[in-house]
Amino acid sequence: MAIEEKSGPVEEKIAPARGKLGVMVVGLGAVATTMIAGVEAVRRGLAKPIGSLTQMGTIRLGKRTDNTSPLIRDFVPLARLDDIVFTGWDIFEDNVYESAAHAAVLDKETLAKLKPHLEAIKPLPAVFDQFYVKRLNGTYVKKGKSKRELADQLIEDIRAFKKTVDRVVMIWAGSTEIFLEPSAVHQSVENFEKGLLANDPGIAPSQIYAYAALKEGVPFANGAPNLTVDIPAMVCLSKKNAAPICGKDFKTGQTFMKTVLAPAFKARMLGVQGWFSTNILGNRDGEVLDDPESFKTKEESKLGSLEYIFQPELYPDLYKNLYHKIRINYYPPRGDEKEAWDNIDIFGWLGYPMQVKVNFLCRDSILAAPIALDLVLFLDLAKRTPDLRSLGIQEWLSFYLKSPQTAEGLYPEHDLFIQSMKLKNTLRHIMGHDLITHLGLDYYD
Ligand SMILES: NC(=O)c1ccc[n+]([C@@H]2O[C@H](COP(=O)([O-])OP(=O)(O)OC[C@H]3O[C@@H](n4cnc5c(N)ncnc54)[C@H](O)[C@@H]3O)[C@@H](O)[C@H]2O)c1
Repeated sequence: MAIEEKSGPVEEKIAPARGKLGVMVVGLGAVATTMIAGVEAVRRGLAKPIGSLTQMGTIRLGKRTDNTSPLIRDFVPLARLDDIVFTGWDIFEDNVYESAAHAAVLDKETLAKLKPHLEAIKPLPAVFDQFYVKRLNGTYVKKGKSKRELADQLIEDIRAFKKTVDRVVMIWAGSTEIFLEPSAVHQSVENFEKGLLANDPGIAPSQIYAYAALKEGVPFANGAPNLTVDIPAMVCLSKKNAAPICGKDFKTGQTFMKTVLAPAFKARMLGVQGWFSTNILGNRDGEVLDDPESFKTKEESKLGSLEYIFQPELYPDLYKNLYHKIRINYYPPRGDEKEAWDNIDIFGWLGYPMQVKVNFLCRDSILAAPIALDLVLFLDLAKRTPDLRSLGIQEWLSFYLKSPQTAEGLYPEHDLFIQSMKLKNTLRHIMGHDLITHLGLDYYD
């Protein structure tokens, strides 16, 4: 569909998505294999890309009366699914078929149809250290005297892959690492590089991958709650090498619901006294999160959303005493089919109490896979877009993330609908179209 250009930046300035897009996935586990198998299933016409905004979403242009709502993938020059080539790293040698079968997210019949394609995607040996993920014992790992040497080996992997495709994006879909506080080694690229040589314990494996990507000008998305690129050294490298970044933690199940419900309570000025969230899940992610140090990383990522949405400093009568508790329980029988319960104690007119119960029986990786795909496609777009490529953090992708990374001193937007508006307005902006404010008075002139 041909979309008429408006004033401002024009499409010609965004480099076209010509040729193959190489996607390097760190961690070929449940989310990654569900994304890879899903993309192949869609390419073959076996299924629809449900849950993917880039594939199914439309964007309204102009006035409501214009009736112009193209598909997003027709409006902005995104890579086509047919042009994506996947590779990745893992600490286990299983190919994508074996790993997908182990994750047991997709049924055997679907996987059987895709077997030759999935078997051909074999992981590269990983950079891994059990100190950062206590519950896993990686056997298929790179060796090096220093973290610098490991980074150089990853850079070699990236360069080799670059020779086979036209553009590259990297995404972390690896396990959740232990909770790390930002320290001196994270404050500048210089400190970070010294830390790589000195094997500084503040540098986690995810940061070695991110460093390698950004050094190579490759955009990087962080789907886990790890610190990874949320440090000044990475933001600086990202801007310097025009390699966009975003993170952290895919917003899939419970937090997705939270960032829909909480803005609704706030919009109606309803108070919230308590919000108790619990989960049972039995996949490998659940096993890793059973370790208190990895759980702490996840807990921090999940806790932030309510605090920012409710703004208790602005609304002390409604939210000052909110008690927010999150539990994640590893329960193997459920596998990837997680169940989440939320009990929300709210109060209304004159303080009268009410309760809302949410019971979400979701499939973790079915929700996460389209998010991972969209992040990859949008980061590739950002890299080709003059207005975006040197900004570092791509805050407009907050829509997909539980704990969105923002510029220093800026609080994150968690409200899903603000995030959605921000994302779509960014697309309108880079294509030179008018932003949509929803004012609408002109319809009544
Ligand atoms: N599934 C979801 O809905 C969801 C939602 C939000 C965030 N996440 C996060 O996404 C990540 C992936 O989730 P998953 O369900 O696919 O988990 P998973 O355990 O199935 O997959 C993670 C994979 O990463 C590998 N790995 C660990 N450390 C590695 C390293 N240093 N290098 C290379 N590979 C490494 C593991 O071997 C495993 O295969 C987790 O951090 C999880 O917390 C998942």
